[in-house]
Amino acid sequence: MVYSMNLVLVAGACGFGSFGATINGGDVSAASDLYRNGVGCGACYQVRCTDSKYCSDKGVNVVITDSGSSDRTDFILSRRAFSRMAQTTDAAASLLSRGVVDIEYRRVSCSYPGKNITIKIDENSNNPYYLAFALWYQQGNKDITAVQLCETQNFVCKLLDRSYGAVWTTTSPPSGPLSLRMLFSGDEGDEAWVVPVNNIPQDWKAGDAYDSGVQVN
Ligand SMILES: *[C@@H]1O[C@H](CO)[C@@H](O)[C@H](O)[C@H]1NC(C)=O
Repeated sequence: MVYSMNLVLVAGACGFGSFGATINGGDVSAASDLYRNGVGCGACYQVRCTDSKYCSDKGVNVVITDSGSSDRTDFILSRRAFSRMAQTTDAAASLLSRGVVDIEYRRVSCSYPGKNITIKIDENSNNPYYLAFALWYQQGNKDITAVQLCETQNFVCKLLDRSYGAVWTTTSPPSGPLSLRMLFSGDEGDEAWVVPVNNIPQDWKAGDAYDSGVQVN
């Protein structure tokens, strides 16, 4: 049996910051097992509650932006996403008053029309000593399981560490403009490296966001 619950989300264990509450129109969720030590950050699920009196067939598509569990629930949905599982506004009020409801779920493709994968430099970064960033707007239903950072001059690459959630870090990053490589892994063991069109500029700054120029499906 699985449950769902509504709680207000805070900045979050994925490292998405305030973006983690507003992405996908605010249809976001914390996950317990599905957080998968951060690999699950950014994954999308269709979540439907099962009480046919109140619940819609479509349910709601949510993005995982945090880790958490409560009453052994699989998901902790944002209040907005929780309401959207209902057929009507009245039904939503009934669901919200229950707090924990039975659900079923499946992984689905994420979709961000008009967006490329975006490299968001973490506020704790400090050029040139320490680089941390999160990857935003990843479409599709694959996981990013490794990230390399390469010099664009002599193509020396280093494998980054997943420090937590969707945040990748390295001390003493290579100098000059930087080229990323992202390893996408599917649930059938398929793996592919994706190389952005755009580099991270040499003068990258904490808090800045850079368009990778690529998207996946
Ligand atoms: C996405 O990348 C493509 C190709 O690099 C570029 O032409 C386009 O402007 C980018 N889209 C956005 C929304 O930044």
